[in-house]
Parts: sequence; C-alpha cells; structure tokens
Amino acid sequence: VTLHVSLVGRTNLSREIYRQIRDAVVNGVLRGGERLPPTRVLARTLSVSRMTVTVAYELLTSEGFVVSRVGAGTFVSEDASRSRAESRRHDAEGLLRPRPIWQSIPLPTALAGPATFEFRSGIPDGSLFPHQLWRGLLLKAARAEASARASYGDPAGHPALREAISRSIGVSRGVTASADDVTVTNGTQHALDILTRVLLEPGDRVAVEDPGYWPPGRIFEALGARTVAVPVDREGLIVSAIPRRVRVVYVTPSHQYPLGVSMTLARRRSLLAWAERNDAAIIEDDYDSEFRFGGRPLEPLRALDVAGRVIYVGSFSKTLLPSLRLAFVVTPRSIRSAVHRAKFLSDWHSPTLLQAALARFIDDGLFARHLRRVNAVYRERHELVTTTLARDFADHLELYPSTTGLHVAARARNASVATVAEVARRAVADGVAVQLLSSFFAGAERRQAGLVLGYGGIATSDIDEGLRRLLRSFDSCAAGNRKPALTSRKA
Ligand SMILES: Cc1ncc(COP(=O)(O)O)c(C=O)c1O
Repeated sequence: VTLHVSLVGRTNLSREIYRQIRDAVVNGVLRGGERLPPTRVLARTLSVSRMTVTVAYELLTSEGFVVSRVGAGTFVSEDASRSRAESRRHDAEGLLRPRPIWQSIPLPTALAGPATFEFRSGIPDGSLFPHQLWRGLLLKAARAEASARASYGDPAGHPALREAISRSIGVSRGVTASADDVTVTNGTQHALDILTRVLLEPGDRVAVEDPGYWPPGRIFEALGARTVAVPVDREGLIVSAIPRRVRVVYVTPSHQYPLGVSMTLARRRSLLAWAERNDAAIIEDDYDSEFRFGGRPLEPLRALDVAGRVIYVGSFSKTLLPSLRLAFVVTPRSIRSAVHRAKFLSDWHSPTLLQAALARFIDDGLFARHLRRVNAVYRERHELVTTTLARDFADHLELYPSTTGLHVAARARNASVATVAEVARRAVADGVAVQLLSSFFAGAERRQAGLVLGYGGIATSDIDEGLRRLLRSFDSCAAGNRKPALTSRKA
C-alpha cells in the first residue's frame, strides 16, 4: 500500500509514524492482511533514518497491530482488524448482551402485513367490533377519571370489571367464581407470566400440548421452568403420556389449539384425577370458546374441579380485540393473594380507563349482544370453510372435528410436510395466507402435514375465492409431483 504519513512539524518521529499507522488500522483505512511498505522504502519516502521506522514498526508489532513474517514483510494483523470491526459493532449496538434464551424466541409473524385472503388463525374480525359504542364508553371513563384524584388502582383489577367478569363467565361458561377470585391481566400471556412466577421454581417441569400454542411454553422456559411436550389426539391431551414430576399442565380443553378438537369428558376427568394424584396444577386456557356452532358444550375443567387445582384463564382478545390486551385469571383461593402480589410487582395494575369502559360494556349488555352478533357471522364462516374443505379438498385434506372457535385444522391425506409447505408457498404467491399444521409441533417425530385455517380475519364473501385459490395450489403441486414419476418410469 502507499501509506500517507505526515511528519511536518513533528519531533518524536518514531512515535508519530507509530501513531498514524495505528490510527489507520483502528479506523479501517488499513485492513487485515495488507502489507506495510518495507522499512527501507518508508524511511526513504519520509526522509528519516531506517532505525526511526524500525522502532515504530516494533512498537506496532508489540501491541498486535501488525505482524512481521520473516522474508515476506510486515502486515496489518487480521486480529486487530477483526477486533476493530467488533468494537465498531459494539459502538453502534452497545456492549450489553441478553440471556441466550432471548435469541431463540421469535417475534410473532402476525406482524407481517395481512394477505388478500387471510386464513391465518388467532385474529377476530375487527370490523365487527362496535367501535362507536366503545369510543363512547372510553370517553365516559375518561371523564370520570378527569374528575377523580390521581391514584393507583387495585392490582387485582377494577372492582366493577371483576364483578362483571364473574357474572359473565357464570352465565356463558358455567364457571362459578366470585369477583374476588378474578384477577385482570394484560392478555393471556401476561396471566401465564404471573402464574409461572407464582407456581414454578426454576427447573420445575410444565407439560404443554403437542401440537400447541407456542408462546406459553416460551414464557415458562424464559422464567426458568422446563417444558415437556405431551401429545394430543382427537380426544385432547393424552393424559397417560404426562411424565412424572410435572408441576403444572397447560391445556386448551374447549378448543385445542391448533387441532380444534374438544377434550372429551373422560379425558377431563382423567386429567383432574391425574392432577390430584400428582399434586399438580392445571392451567385451563379458554381463549375462544365463546364461539360455538353446534353440539352441547362440555363443562370447563374449572367447573368440574372440586379440589381447587384448576386455574382458569379467559381473554378478550378474540371476543373483542387483541389490541385491548385484556384478559383475566380465575384462581383457586389458595393462590389468590400470591397472584395479586405478582400482578402488583409486574405492572401494578392494568389500565383503569380500559377496565372501566369494559365493565360498562359488559354491564350494559353490550358484550352479550356483540357475542350473539359475531357468533352468527363466525358460524356462517365456519360452515362455509368446513363444507368446502369436506367437498372440494377431500383428496387432499381430512378435517379435525371442531364446532368451536375461530379456526379449523386439517390433516393432509397423502402429502408430506414438505409438499404442504410448497402448497402454502404457492398459495401465498396467490394472495392466500394459511398456516402449516406441522409448524405447531414441538419435535420432528410427531409432526403432521396439514393446514390450520382461521376465518376471523377474512370476510365471508372472500372465503370461496380464497379456498378456490388454495385448491389450485394443491392441484398444481399434485400435478408437479406426478410429472417426475412419469418421466422416471419412461427412463
Ligand atoms: C391458545 C391461545 N391462548 C390465548 C390466546 C390469546 O392470547 P392473549 O390473550 O395474550 O392475546 C391465543 C391467541 O392466539 C391462543 O391461540
């Protein structure tokens, strides 16, 4: 390299040569592996003695900025260059490092923009939400807040909302609970965060469903517990497969996520008996059972539980809006106070304004009315999706029985996990977003090929066209798969 070193007006010449070359390495002007001019050449260029340059090079060598190779010359050290890149990255990002577990936790894919035909699960239809009524209630709550003294609220939740929830779940879910048993949280996920802190020691084992909803397992793990994946069949969680020394079981009995099946009464009884024998707790996540399209609903585990081992979690994310971040826990009396303390330490309490508005929404009968209205819409979509799948996709998919909630799951009859992934990829290219059933399994060995189809985020009038395009993706993959078989036979 031609190296520019300026010695005009300098006295300590070796030091100056050293400093300028070091800065060039540190600033990336000289890169790892680059060769410095030989001492003799640089001495001549700068009109200094060769010794002056040699002293500078020795200093650079002793500090690791350059390395000299006998017979080859002096080179900028790769290490110095790497650590320079490293320190530049540190300058930009800061030096702090999170615990390794946070690197393995994904952010939700739902944040990707909506598709033209949105069949991804987990979202209700926002256009059905009574926004105008809600705005009115928020305004009223804001006025009340403006005339009150500023203060913190009760960690367990706004008293009127706790009362309203206890009445509402008594009517709609047959869960008998007093307002004292109800704690308001910021979504189901926050409820699980609190319950983990209250129930689990680091290293304790929690059983989760396989396939299942992944965020609960990750919060258990992030707080130090160990999860064990327990298989699910058409009757729900296979209770006999729960290993020993499990402290907590997390289940979705009303509408298993993602299979959509309802846990049979026999399984519910057997799970309660298992918890009793093993001195364990059950967390019952009842996230979307308010939407029911047939059959008699089975009683929630909480309603069957006489021993106080079931903690019931309900959410307003599907019945109203996920962005409200409002859910609730119904706790057995034995852990009630601990849950309030954990909620207090976590965020003191959920926002009073939203809680007050929601309490009025329930008390004024608007919640029940809203549920009746959206139930009729989702019933039609459920019917449309299930009959179309049964009729037009019979060669490709087999539906899991489901009469509840906002999604259905279907198993591929013949296609492999990879083929269904290709179908989904082609569907996305055609504007249709679906989820792979295989992606909900913990490990490769039980993984099933299939699809999960939600109907909360797609207009009823778009379902036909969306499913037509999905079928086209299946057919084009099937045709693509047949072709190589024919050619290979010919060969
Ligand atoms: C199984 C299950 N539980 C709970 C929820 C809702 O979570 P949250 O109340 O945190 O929005 C979802 C949403 O997709 C879910 O699928």
